[in-house]
Amino acid sequence: MSDIYILGIESSCDDTSASVLRNNVMLSNVTANQSVHELYGGVVPELASRAHQQNIIPVVHEAIKRAGIDKSDLNAIAFTRGPGLLGSLLVGTSFAKGLAQALNIPLLEVNHLQAHVLAHFISEGKPDEKQPEIPFLCLLVSGGNSQIVLVKAFNQMEVIGQTIDDAAGEAFDKCAKVMGLPYPGGPHIDRLAKEGNPKAFTFNKPQIQDYNYSFSGLKTSFLYLLRDKEKENPDFVKENLNDLCASLQSTIIDVLMIKLRKAATDFNINQVAVAGGVSANSALRQAFNDHATKSGWKVYIPPFSFTTDNAAMIAVTGYFKFLNTDFCSMSEVPFARVTNTF
Ligand code: KG4
Repeated sequence: MSDIYILGIESSCDDTSASVLRNNVMLSNVTANQSVHELYGGVVPELASRAHQQNIIPVVHEAIKRAGIDKSDLNAIAFTRGPGLLGSLLVGTSFAKGLAQALNIPLLEVNHLQAHVLAHFISEGKPDEKQPEIPFLCLLVSGGNSQIVLVKAFNQMEVIGQTIDDAAGEAFDKCAKVMGLPYPGGPHIDRLAKEGNPKAFTFNKPQIQDYNYSFSGLKTSFLYLLRDKEKENPDFVKENLNDLCASLQSTIIDVLMIKLRKAATDFNINQVAVAGGVSANSALRQAFNDHATKSGWKVYIPPFSFTTDNAAMIAVTGYFKFLNTDFCSMSEVPFARVTNTF
């Protein structure tokens, strides 16, 4: 079979990204981030859509140029259909439709969460790449989602557990905000925690059924601790910043790992992957590696560039769909909400 060239387009939140793959090999991956949201401590949907509109043409153009191909070489266009911010998704979806129609090539609609899981199958052409064997479990942790996904096939995944309120990334970001750290707070907490004592403060861990998560209680108890301590000492946060970050981070990771370990035991699966923005966290990566040694897990941790939103993961998911001739029609519309299977 001759090579397949797929253009992937991602615009679900605040990153405009385009990537070209030859089969599952990444030729380019170009992302424009939106710094405008830093001022507001979170993503402002209307501003995100406007920035996507400004970024989409240069980003796609650059991705095709860096791949060293002509747009007429493309076999199909994959785009993020959801979940995400509707206004943002509309920009990528409309652009993908327009370009596919102009080039007279098929369209592939991609679920953003499925793509995070399949990011493990992007090849960068390096000799030591390893990919999970199916079936495997994937802990999908990002700013908007915390899920345990059972991957039965490239196109058959079941969410066996998920957060009933806030996502893990949200817990990092919201707690960072109350400590006065910039948005997004996750990477700052990760950095500061390296100098702190993870046992300095204890927070209640949620007691939730099955493989589900909850982070809103942790967020509230963190807020109350700060409020009470600041009454006694207005400099409490400044004086204890590293310990607060280390203790919070270690609690979030404990909560994530307890349910993941339970799922791995109950489903008798030892192939375990992690994906999504929070998988960049160094302590979470360490917890995965510790488990590989202790429990014989085979762990799969993505390169940093594929942890956050990127179009290479959209293109690789599109590639698997292309092989199944799983194309979509021009009338497909974006969706905002998370689904339980994908
Ligand atoms: O997957 P992602 O890029 O997109 C969204 O879901 O929006 O995830 C972003 C999330 C943010 O909450 C950010 O704080 C978190 O990933 N994050 C981290 C780290 N790097 C990014 N959280 C903890 N430690 C990190 N090193």
